[in-house]
Amino acid sequence: MILGISGSPRKMATEHILGVALKMLEEKGFKTHLFAMRGKNISPCRHCDYCLKNKECIVKDDMYQLYPLIREAEGFVLATPVYNGSMSAQMKIAMDRTRATLAAEPRSLRRKPGMAIAIGGD
Ligand SMILES: Cc1cc2nc3c(=O)[nH]c(=O)nc-3n(C[C@H](O)[C@H](O)[C@H](O)COP(=O)(O)O)c2cc1C
Repeated sequence: MILGISGSPRKMATEHILGVALKMLEEKGFKTHLFAMRGKNISPCRHCDYCLKNKECIVKDDMYQLYPLIREAEGFVLATPVYNGSMSAQMKIAMDRTRATLAAEPRSLRRKPGMAIAIGGD
């Protein structure tokens, strides 16, 4: 399964283009899953290091919907709107919170191909 993560707080361009990219992958025979950060309750990493000792994140929020998908995924498409020349805060939070995935299963992100999409307005 190829996991697409949309870092937009809206169901607009980023989520649409990510959907198009995943459809193209499906046409090539891949199973895909789109996870939208939109509407999710996902807090930033606290750097409490709880995950390093306990192999799970202490913050029990909607990131727990994403953790099993990350483990299952064979590849990733990260799609973000451009906010002030960078990724959105939602996208960055998702990336930072994978620290707990890595602590639990160091191989969960290794050797998995990734692709990035950035959607700007200017
Ligand atoms: C806070 C904020 C900062 C932005 N900064 C940029 C920027 O630096 N460069 C750019 O091209 N567009 C910028 N934009 C425009 C968005 O990237 C653009 O509208 C994008 O399509 C939004 O994605 P969405 O339709 O999925 O929400 C910004 C928008 C917001 C809300």
